[in-house]
Amino acid sequence: MTSALEVPAAGVGVWNGTSTKAAFDRWFRYPAGLSQDALARLFDHDRNPHEGPVVDPFCGAGTVGTRAACFDWAFVGAEAHPEIAELARLKLAPSPDVDAIVQAGEELLASAVPVETIDAEHELVRRCFSPDVLAALTGLRDGIQAGSSAEVPYLKWALLATLRDVANVKVGWPYLRPGLARNPPHTDVAARYRVRLGWMADDLRARTSDPVAEILQGDSGDAKTWLRREGEPKGSVALTSPPYLNNFDYADATRLEMFFWGRNASWAEMVADVRSDMLIATTQQATVVGADAATSSLSELPKAAATVERLTTALAEERGKRRAGKAYDRVLPEYALGISRVLRQLQWQLEPGSWTGWVVGDSAPYGIYVDTPGLIQNIALELGYTNPQSEILRSRGLRWRTNGTRHQMALNERLIWMRTPGS
Ligand SMILES: C[S@@+](CC[C@H](N)C(=O)[O-])C[C@H]1O[C@@H](n2cnc3c(N)ncnc32)[C@H](O)[C@@H]1O
Repeated sequence: MTSALEVPAAGVGVWNGTSTKAAFDRWFRYPAGLSQDALARLFDHDRNPHEGPVVDPFCGAGTVGTRAACFDWAFVGAEAHPEIAELARLKLAPSPDVDAIVQAGEELLASAVPVETIDAEHELVRRCFSPDVLAALTGLRDGIQAGSSAEVPYLKWALLATLRDVANVKVGWPYLRPGLARNPPHTDVAARYRVRLGWMADDLRARTSDPVAEILQGDSGDAKTWLRREGEPKGSVALTSPPYLNNFDYADATRLEMFFWGRNASWAEMVADVRSDMLIATTQQATVVGADAATSSLSELPKAAATVERLTTALAEERGKRRAGKAYDRVLPEYALGISRVLRQLQWQLEPGSWTGWVVGDSAPYGIYVDTPGLIQNIALELGYTNPQSEILRSRGLRWRTNGTRHQMALNERLIWMRTPGS
Protein backbone atom coordinates (compact mmCIF):
# COMPACT_ATOMS: atom_id res chain seq x y z
CA MET A 1 0.00 0.00 0.00
CA THR A 2 1.16 3.53 -0.73
CA SER A 3 0.33 6.54 1.39
CA ALA A 4 -1.44 9.43 -0.32
CA LEU A 5 1.36 11.75 0.72
CA GLU A 6 4.15 9.58 -0.48
CA VAL A 7 5.90 11.21 -3.40
CA PRO A 8 8.45 9.08 -5.23
CA ALA A 9 12.03 10.31 -5.48
CA ALA A 10 12.83 13.00 -8.01
CA GLY A 11 13.31 11.57 -11.47
CA VAL A 12 10.68 8.91 -11.10
CA GLY A 13 7.91 11.14 -12.34
CA VAL A 14 8.26 12.01 -15.98
CA TRP A 15 6.95 15.34 -17.20
CA ASN A 16 3.71 14.83 -19.01
CA GLY A 17 4.18 11.13 -19.37
CA THR A 18 3.65 7.89 -17.62
CA SER A 19 6.45 7.04 -15.26
CA THR A 20 8.83 4.57 -16.85
CA LYS A 21 9.63 3.14 -13.43
CA ALA A 22 6.51 3.04 -11.30
CA ALA A 23 4.70 -0.28 -11.02
CA PHE A 24 2.10 -0.80 -13.76
CA ASP A 25 2.93 2.56 -15.41
CA ARG A 26 6.09 0.93 -16.74
CA TRP A 27 4.16 -1.68 -18.71
CA PHE A 28 3.81 0.67 -21.66
CA ARG A 29 4.88 4.27 -22.04
CA TYR A 30 1.86 6.46 -22.66
CA PRO A 31 1.43 10.21 -22.11
CA ALA A 32 -0.54 10.17 -18.87
CA GLY A 33 -0.62 13.90 -18.21
CA LEU A 34 0.14 12.96 -14.63
CA SER A 35 3.52 13.06 -12.98
CA GLN A 36 3.83 10.98 -9.84
CA ASP A 37 3.62 14.04 -7.58
CA ALA A 38 0.57 15.39 -9.43
CA LEU A 39 -1.02 12.02 -8.96
CA ALA A 40 -0.32 12.10 -5.23
CA ARG A 41 -1.94 15.56 -4.98
CA LEU A 42 -4.94 14.37 -6.95
CA PHE A 43 -5.52 11.54 -4.49
CA ASP A 44 -6.77 13.83 -1.78
CA HIS A 45 -8.46 11.48 0.67
CA ASP A 46 -10.45 14.30 2.26
CA ARG A 47 -12.33 14.88 -0.98
CA ASN A 48 -13.37 11.27 -1.39
CA PRO A 49 -16.10 9.92 0.92
CA HIS A 50 -15.22 6.43 -0.37
CA GLU A 51 -18.79 5.39 -0.93
CA GLY A 52 -18.57 4.79 -4.64
CA PRO A 53 -15.85 4.28 -7.23
CA VAL A 54 -13.29 6.79 -8.44
CA VAL A 55 -14.26 7.84 -11.97
CA ASP A 56 -11.78 8.89 -14.66
CA PRO A 57 -13.41 10.02 -17.93
CA PHE A 58 -10.02 10.12 -19.72
CA CYS A 59 -8.49 7.05 -18.18
CA GLY A 60 -5.82 6.26 -20.79
CA ALA A 61 -3.56 3.44 -19.70
CA GLY A 62 -5.10 3.50 -16.23
CA THR A 63 -2.67 5.49 -14.09
CA VAL A 64 -5.48 6.80 -11.87
CA GLY A 65 -7.03 3.33 -11.76
CA THR A 66 -3.89 1.52 -10.65
CA ARG A 67 -3.31 4.16 -7.99
CA ALA A 68 -6.92 3.78 -6.80
CA ALA A 69 -6.32 0.03 -6.54
CA CYS A 70 -3.45 0.71 -4.11
CA PHE A 71 -6.03 2.12 -1.69
CA ASP A 72 -8.63 -0.54 -2.49
CA TRP A 73 -10.85 2.13 -4.06
CA ALA A 74 -13.11 0.84 -6.82
CA PHE A 75 -12.54 2.47 -10.21
CA VAL A 76 -14.49 3.26 -13.35
CA GLY A 77 -12.61 4.61 -16.35
CA ALA A 78 -13.63 5.62 -19.85
CA GLU A 79 -11.11 5.70 -22.68
CA ALA A 80 -11.59 6.43 -26.37
CA HIS A 81 -8.50 4.62 -27.70
CA PRO A 82 -9.59 0.99 -28.08
CA GLU A 83 -6.16 -0.59 -27.57
CA ILE A 84 -5.21 1.68 -24.68
CA ALA A 85 -8.55 0.84 -23.06
CA GLU A 86 -7.55 -2.82 -23.36
CA LEU A 87 -4.24 -2.06 -21.64
CA ALA A 88 -6.02 -0.31 -18.76
CA ARG A 89 -8.41 -3.25 -18.48
CA LEU A 90 -5.49 -5.64 -18.33
CA LYS A 91 -3.75 -3.74 -15.55
CA LEU A 92 -6.95 -3.63 -13.54
CA ALA A 93 -8.23 -7.15 -14.15
CA PRO A 94 -8.50 -9.46 -11.13
CA SER A 95 -5.07 -10.98 -10.60
CA PRO A 96 -4.28 -13.59 -13.23
CA ASP A 97 -2.15 -16.72 -12.89
CA VAL A 98 1.22 -14.99 -13.00
CA ASP A 99 3.27 -18.19 -13.28
CA ALA A 100 1.21 -19.13 -16.33
CA ILE A 101 2.04 -15.76 -17.93
CA VAL A 102 5.76 -16.20 -17.37
CA GLN A 103 5.62 -19.77 -18.64
CA ALA A 104 3.64 -18.75 -21.72
CA GLY A 105 6.30 -16.10 -22.40
CA GLU A 106 9.10 -18.66 -22.17
CA GLU A 107 7.22 -21.06 -24.44
CA LEU A 108 6.68 -18.27 -26.93
CA LEU A 109 10.36 -17.36 -26.91
CA ALA A 110 11.33 -21.01 -27.38
CA SER A 111 8.91 -21.66 -30.23
CA ALA A 112 8.80 -18.37 -32.17
CA VAL A 113 10.88 -18.31 -35.32
CA PRO A 114 11.97 -15.07 -36.98
CA VAL A 115 9.84 -14.63 -40.08
CA GLU A 116 11.56 -15.20 -43.42
CA THR A 117 10.45 -12.00 -45.03
CA ILE A 118 9.41 -8.69 -43.59
CA ASP A 119 8.27 -7.31 -46.96
CA ALA A 120 4.61 -7.47 -45.99
CA GLU A 121 5.10 -5.26 -42.93
CA HIS A 122 3.88 -1.67 -43.03
CA GLU A 123 6.43 0.68 -44.56
CA LEU A 124 6.62 2.79 -41.40
CA VAL A 125 7.30 -0.30 -39.32
CA ARG A 126 10.04 -1.44 -41.70
CA ARG A 127 11.75 1.93 -41.38
CA CYS A 128 11.96 1.67 -37.59
CA PHE A 129 13.96 -1.55 -37.17
CA SER A 130 16.90 -3.42 -38.62
CA PRO A 131 15.67 -6.38 -40.73
CA ASP A 132 16.88 -8.96 -38.17
CA VAL A 133 15.18 -7.21 -35.26
CA LEU A 134 11.94 -6.82 -37.19
CA ALA A 135 12.03 -10.48 -38.24
CA ALA A 136 12.37 -11.48 -34.57
CA LEU A 137 9.59 -9.12 -33.47
CA THR A 138 7.18 -10.32 -36.14
CA GLY A 139 7.98 -13.95 -35.29
CA LEU A 140 6.91 -13.25 -31.70
CA ARG A 141 3.86 -11.32 -32.86
CA ASP A 142 2.71 -14.13 -35.14
CA GLY A 143 3.20 -16.63 -32.31
CA ILE A 144 1.09 -14.50 -29.96
CA GLN A 145 -1.64 -13.90 -32.52
CA ALA A 146 -1.90 -17.65 -33.17
CA GLY A 147 -2.79 -18.25 -29.51
CA SER A 148 -6.04 -17.74 -27.65
CA SER A 149 -5.15 -18.39 -24.00
CA ALA A 150 -5.84 -15.97 -21.14
CA GLU A 151 -2.15 -15.05 -21.21
CA VAL A 152 -2.25 -13.66 -24.77
CA PRO A 153 -3.01 -10.00 -23.86
CA TYR A 154 -0.07 -9.92 -21.42
CA LEU A 155 2.24 -11.39 -24.06
CA LYS A 156 0.94 -8.84 -26.54
CA TRP A 157 1.55 -5.77 -24.37
CA ALA A 158 5.03 -6.91 -23.36
CA LEU A 159 5.81 -7.10 -27.08
CA LEU A 160 4.23 -3.76 -27.99
CA ALA A 161 6.23 -2.14 -25.19
CA THR A 162 9.43 -3.76 -26.49
CA LEU A 163 9.12 -2.10 -29.91
CA ARG A 164 10.49 1.32 -28.98
CA ASP A 165 13.26 -0.29 -26.91
CA VAL A 166 14.76 -2.02 -29.94
CA ALA A 167 14.01 0.48 -32.73
CA ASN A 168 17.05 1.85 -34.57
CA VAL A 169 15.50 5.22 -35.40
CA LYS A 170 14.25 7.98 -33.12
CA VAL A 171 11.03 6.78 -31.61
CA GLY A 172 11.13 8.90 -28.48
CA TRP A 173 7.66 9.37 -27.14
CA PRO A 174 5.26 10.42 -28.49
CA TYR A 175 6.06 10.84 -32.18
CA LEU A 176 8.24 8.81 -34.49
CA ARG A 177 11.10 10.28 -36.46
CA PRO A 178 11.93 7.35 -38.72
CA GLY A 179 14.30 9.51 -40.76
CA LEU A 180 16.68 9.88 -37.80
CA ALA A 181 18.89 6.91 -37.00
CA ARG A 182 20.00 6.01 -33.47
CA ASN A 183 21.72 3.18 -31.66
CA PRO A 184 18.89 1.23 -30.08
CA PRO A 185 19.08 1.04 -26.28
CA HIS A 186 18.48 -2.72 -26.58
CA THR A 187 19.40 -5.04 -29.43
CA ASP A 188 18.47 -8.49 -28.12
CA VAL A 189 14.72 -8.75 -28.71
CA ALA A 190 14.21 -11.92 -26.67
CA ALA A 191 16.17 -10.59 -23.68
CA ARG A 192 14.31 -7.29 -23.65
CA TYR A 193 10.97 -9.01 -24.09
CA ARG A 194 11.74 -11.25 -21.09
CA VAL A 195 12.58 -8.18 -18.98
CA ARG A 196 9.32 -6.48 -19.89
CA LEU A 197 7.22 -9.55 -19.19
CA GLY A 198 9.12 -9.90 -15.90
CA TRP A 199 8.09 -6.36 -14.87
CA MET A 200 4.47 -7.22 -15.52
CA ALA A 201 4.80 -10.41 -13.47
CA ASP A 202 6.54 -8.56 -10.60
CA ASP A 203 3.86 -5.85 -10.47
CA LEU A 204 1.05 -8.40 -10.49
CA ARG A 205 2.72 -10.51 -7.79
CA ALA A 206 3.28 -7.48 -5.55
CA ARG A 207 -0.42 -6.73 -5.47
CA THR A 208 -2.06 -7.36 -2.13
CA SER A 209 -5.67 -7.42 -3.32
CA ASP A 210 -7.65 -7.69 -6.53
CA PRO A 211 -8.69 -4.36 -8.10
CA VAL A 212 -12.38 -3.66 -8.51
CA ALA A 213 -12.54 -1.82 -11.79
CA GLU A 214 -14.50 -1.33 -14.97
CA ILE A 215 -13.08 0.21 -18.13
CA LEU A 216 -15.56 1.52 -20.66
CA GLN A 217 -14.31 2.06 -24.18
CA GLY A 218 -15.68 5.05 -26.03
CA ASP A 219 -16.29 8.79 -25.90
CA SER A 220 -16.83 9.85 -22.30
CA GLY A 221 -18.88 12.79 -23.59
CA ASP A 222 -21.43 10.39 -25.04
CA ALA A 223 -24.15 8.92 -22.81
CA LYS A 224 -23.89 5.64 -24.73
CA THR A 225 -20.42 4.99 -23.32
CA TRP A 226 -21.76 4.99 -19.76
CA LEU A 227 -24.92 2.95 -20.47
CA ARG A 228 -23.48 -0.20 -18.92
CA ARG A 229 -23.22 1.67 -15.61
CA GLU A 230 -26.97 2.19 -15.32
CA GLY A 231 -28.13 1.08 -11.89
CA GLU A 232 -24.51 0.74 -10.63
CA PRO A 233 -23.26 2.78 -7.66
CA LYS A 234 -22.41 6.36 -8.61
CA GLY A 235 -18.87 7.61 -8.25
CA SER A 236 -17.81 9.49 -5.14
CA VAL A 237 -14.98 11.41 -6.81
CA ALA A 238 -13.69 11.96 -10.36
CA LEU A 239 -9.95 12.32 -10.89
CA THR A 240 -8.56 12.91 -14.33
CA SER A 241 -6.22 14.51 -16.76
CA PRO A 242 -7.87 15.45 -20.06
CA PRO A 243 -6.05 15.89 -23.35
CA TYR A 244 -4.32 19.27 -23.11
CA LEU A 245 -5.14 21.77 -25.81
CA ASN A 246 -2.63 21.57 -28.68
CA ASN A 247 -0.63 18.80 -27.10
CA PHE A 248 -0.72 15.13 -28.14
CA ASP A 249 -2.62 13.41 -30.85
CA TYR A 250 -3.18 10.18 -28.95
CA ALA A 251 -3.91 8.20 -32.10
CA ASP A 252 -0.80 9.38 -33.93
CA ALA A 253 1.30 8.71 -30.85
CA THR A 254 0.51 4.99 -31.06
CA ARG A 255 0.89 4.67 -34.82
CA LEU A 256 3.91 2.34 -34.63
CA GLU A 257 2.19 -0.09 -32.30
CA MET A 258 -1.11 -0.11 -34.19
CA PHE A 259 0.56 -0.71 -37.58
CA PHE A 260 2.89 -3.34 -36.17
CA TRP A 261 0.09 -5.24 -34.47
CA GLY A 262 -1.93 -5.07 -37.69
CA ARG A 263 -4.89 -3.38 -36.10
CA ASN A 264 -4.72 -0.66 -38.75
CA ALA A 265 -3.22 -0.85 -42.23
CA SER A 266 -3.28 2.87 -43.02
CA TRP A 267 -3.47 6.23 -41.32
CA ALA A 268 -6.99 6.79 -42.73
CA GLU A 269 -8.09 3.52 -41.18
CA MET A 270 -6.50 4.50 -37.88
CA VAL A 271 -8.27 7.83 -37.83
CA ALA A 272 -11.63 6.11 -38.33
CA ASP A 273 -10.94 3.31 -35.88
CA VAL A 274 -8.81 4.81 -33.10
CA ARG A 275 -9.40 8.55 -33.21
CA SER A 276 -13.11 8.78 -33.95
CA ASP A 277 -14.25 8.95 -30.31
CA MET A 278 -11.55 11.35 -29.13
CA LEU A 279 -11.97 14.91 -27.99
CA ILE A 280 -10.75 17.38 -30.64
CA ALA A 281 -7.66 18.84 -29.02
CA THR A 282 -5.10 19.27 -31.81
CA THR A 283 -4.95 21.03 -35.17
CA GLN A 284 -4.53 17.65 -36.89
CA GLN A 285 -8.02 16.70 -35.72
CA ALA A 286 -9.82 20.00 -36.30
CA THR A 287 -11.97 20.82 -39.33
CA VAL A 288 -13.76 23.96 -40.53
CA VAL A 289 -17.13 22.20 -40.45
CA GLY A 290 -16.53 20.87 -36.93
CA ALA A 291 -15.44 24.28 -35.66
CA ASP A 292 -18.54 25.97 -37.11
CA ALA A 293 -20.88 23.36 -35.66
CA ALA A 294 -19.18 23.58 -32.27
CA THR A 295 -19.38 27.36 -32.28
CA SER A 296 -23.13 27.27 -32.75
CA SER A 297 -23.64 24.51 -30.14
CA LEU A 298 -21.56 26.48 -27.65
CA SER A 299 -24.16 29.23 -27.64
CA GLU A 300 -25.88 27.21 -24.90
CA LEU A 301 -22.96 28.25 -22.67
CA PRO A 302 -22.80 32.01 -23.36
CA LYS A 303 -19.85 32.80 -21.09
CA ALA A 304 -17.69 30.00 -22.49
CA ALA A 305 -18.82 30.94 -25.99
CA ALA A 306 -17.70 34.55 -25.44
CA THR A 307 -14.26 33.47 -24.20
CA VAL A 308 -13.86 31.06 -27.10
CA GLU A 309 -14.93 33.71 -29.60
CA ARG A 310 -12.45 36.23 -28.22
CA LEU A 311 -9.62 33.73 -28.43
CA THR A 312 -10.51 32.28 -31.83
CA THR A 313 -10.68 35.78 -33.31
CA ALA A 314 -7.21 36.55 -31.98
CA LEU A 315 -5.85 33.17 -33.12
CA ALA A 316 -7.37 33.51 -36.61
CA GLU A 317 -5.84 36.96 -36.91
CA GLU A 318 -2.40 35.59 -36.03
CA ARG A 319 -2.84 32.72 -38.48
CA GLY A 320 -3.69 35.25 -41.19
CA LYS A 321 -0.25 36.83 -40.68
CA ARG A 322 1.47 33.52 -41.52
CA ARG A 323 1.76 31.73 -44.81
CA ALA A 324 0.74 28.23 -43.68
CA GLY A 325 -0.14 28.77 -40.07
CA LYS A 326 -1.70 26.05 -37.98
CA ALA A 327 -5.44 26.45 -37.44
CA TYR A 328 -5.47 26.76 -33.65
CA ASP A 329 -8.60 28.86 -33.98
CA ARG A 330 -10.46 25.81 -35.30
CA VAL A 331 -9.48 23.58 -32.39
CA LEU A 332 -10.75 25.71 -29.55
CA PRO A 333 -14.55 25.63 -30.19
CA GLU A 334 -14.57 21.85 -30.58
CA TYR A 335 -12.32 21.43 -27.54
CA ALA A 336 -14.58 23.57 -25.34
CA LEU A 337 -17.71 21.81 -26.58
CA GLY A 338 -16.11 18.37 -26.06
CA ILE A 339 -15.14 19.27 -22.50
CA SER A 340 -18.68 20.50 -21.78
CA ARG A 341 -20.10 17.19 -23.03
CA VAL A 342 -17.80 15.23 -20.74
CA LEU A 343 -18.66 17.43 -17.75
CA ARG A 344 -22.36 16.86 -18.43
CA GLN A 345 -21.90 13.08 -18.46
CA LEU A 346 -19.65 13.18 -15.43
CA GLN A 347 -22.36 14.88 -13.47
CA TRP A 348 -24.60 11.81 -13.98
CA GLN A 349 -21.85 9.39 -13.05
CA LEU A 350 -21.15 11.01 -9.67
CA GLU A 351 -23.12 11.47 -6.47
CA PRO A 352 -24.43 15.07 -6.29
CA GLY A 353 -21.87 17.33 -4.66
CA SER A 354 -18.89 15.06 -5.42
CA TRP A 355 -15.50 16.59 -6.05
CA THR A 356 -13.80 16.33 -9.38
CA GLY A 357 -10.11 17.10 -9.77
CA TRP A 358 -8.45 17.73 -13.12
CA VAL A 359 -4.74 18.07 -13.85
CA VAL A 360 -4.37 20.24 -16.94
CA GLY A 361 -1.91 22.65 -18.51
CA ASP A 362 -2.45 25.97 -20.26
CA SER A 363 -0.99 26.93 -23.63
CA ALA A 364 -0.06 29.92 -25.76
CA PRO A 365 -0.30 29.23 -29.49
CA TYR A 366 1.01 32.18 -31.52
CA GLY A 367 1.69 33.86 -28.18
CA ILE A 368 -2.03 34.10 -27.39
CA TYR A 369 -2.53 32.88 -23.85
CA VAL A 370 -5.20 30.19 -23.55
CA ASP A 371 -6.01 29.49 -19.93
CA THR A 372 -7.27 25.95 -20.49
CA PRO A 373 -7.73 25.07 -16.79
CA GLY A 374 -9.65 28.33 -16.29
CA LEU A 375 -11.77 27.66 -19.37
CA ILE A 376 -12.64 24.13 -18.17
CA GLN A 377 -13.54 25.45 -14.73
CA ASN A 378 -15.72 28.20 -16.19
CA ILE A 379 -17.54 25.71 -18.41
CA ALA A 380 -18.14 23.57 -15.32
CA LEU A 381 -19.51 26.55 -13.38
CA GLU A 382 -21.80 27.43 -16.25
CA LEU A 383 -23.10 23.85 -16.10
CA GLY A 384 -23.90 24.25 -12.41
CA TYR A 385 -20.74 22.86 -10.79
CA THR A 386 -19.71 24.74 -7.63
CA ASN A 387 -16.75 25.44 -5.30
CA PRO A 388 -14.02 26.12 -7.89
CA GLN A 389 -10.50 25.78 -6.55
CA SER A 390 -7.18 25.81 -8.30
CA GLU A 391 -3.52 25.28 -7.47
CA ILE A 392 -0.41 25.50 -9.60
CA LEU A 393 1.41 22.19 -9.72
CA ARG A 394 4.41 23.41 -11.63
CA SER A 395 5.75 25.71 -14.25
CA ARG A 396 5.98 24.22 -17.72
CA GLY A 397 8.73 26.56 -18.84
CA LEU A 398 8.60 29.77 -20.69
CA ARG A 399 8.50 28.89 -24.31
CA TRP A 400 5.84 28.02 -26.80
CA ARG A 401 7.36 27.33 -30.16
CA THR A 402 5.30 27.14 -33.30
CA ASN A 403 6.04 27.34 -37.00
CA GLY A 404 9.36 28.95 -36.33
CA THR A 405 7.86 31.59 -34.06
CA ARG A 406 8.90 31.62 -30.44
CA HIS A 407 6.91 33.24 -27.72
CA GLN A 408 7.92 33.89 -24.17
CA MET A 409 5.09 32.93 -21.90
CA ALA A 410 4.96 31.47 -18.42
CA LEU A 411 2.96 28.27 -18.68
CA ASN A 412 1.69 26.23 -15.81
CA GLU A 413 0.19 22.90 -15.03
CA ARG A 414 -2.69 23.28 -12.61
CA LEU A 415 -4.87 21.08 -10.46
CA ILE A 416 -8.42 22.36 -10.57
CA TRP A 417 -11.24 21.19 -8.33
CA MET A 418 -14.98 21.71 -8.49
CA ARG A 419 -18.06 19.95 -7.17
CA THR A 420 -20.85 18.42 -9.19
CA PRO A 421 -24.19 20.24 -8.88
CA GLY A 422 -26.69 19.45 -6.17
CA SER A 423 -24.75 18.88 -2.94
C1 LIG B 1 -3.92 13.12 -20.82
S1 LIG B 1 -4.40 11.52 -21.34
C2 LIG B 1 -4.79 10.77 -19.81
C3 LIG B 1 -4.03 9.49 -19.67
C4 LIG B 1 -4.23 8.74 -18.39
N1 LIG B 1 -4.14 9.55 -17.20
C5 LIG B 1 -3.29 7.56 -18.32
O1 LIG B 1 -3.07 7.05 -17.27
O2 LIG B 1 -2.77 7.13 -19.35
C6 LIG B 1 -5.96 11.77 -22.06
C7 LIG B 1 -6.62 10.48 -22.55
O3 LIG B 1 -7.96 10.80 -22.92
C8 LIG B 1 -8.30 9.97 -24.04
N2 LIG B 1 -9.46 10.61 -24.67
C9 LIG B 1 -9.48 11.64 -25.53
N3 LIG B 1 -10.75 11.97 -25.81
C10 LIG B 1 -11.56 11.13 -25.13
C11 LIG B 1 -12.95 11.00 -25.01
N4 LIG B 1 -13.79 11.79 -25.66
N5 LIG B 1 -13.44 10.02 -24.20
C12 LIG B 1 -12.61 9.21 -23.53
N6 LIG B 1 -11.26 9.29 -23.62
C13 LIG B 1 -10.74 10.24 -24.39
C14 LIG B 1 -7.04 9.92 -24.86
O4 LIG B 1 -7.05 8.83 -25.73
C15 LIG B 1 -6.00 9.81 -23.75
O5 LIG B 1 -5.76 8.46 -23.47
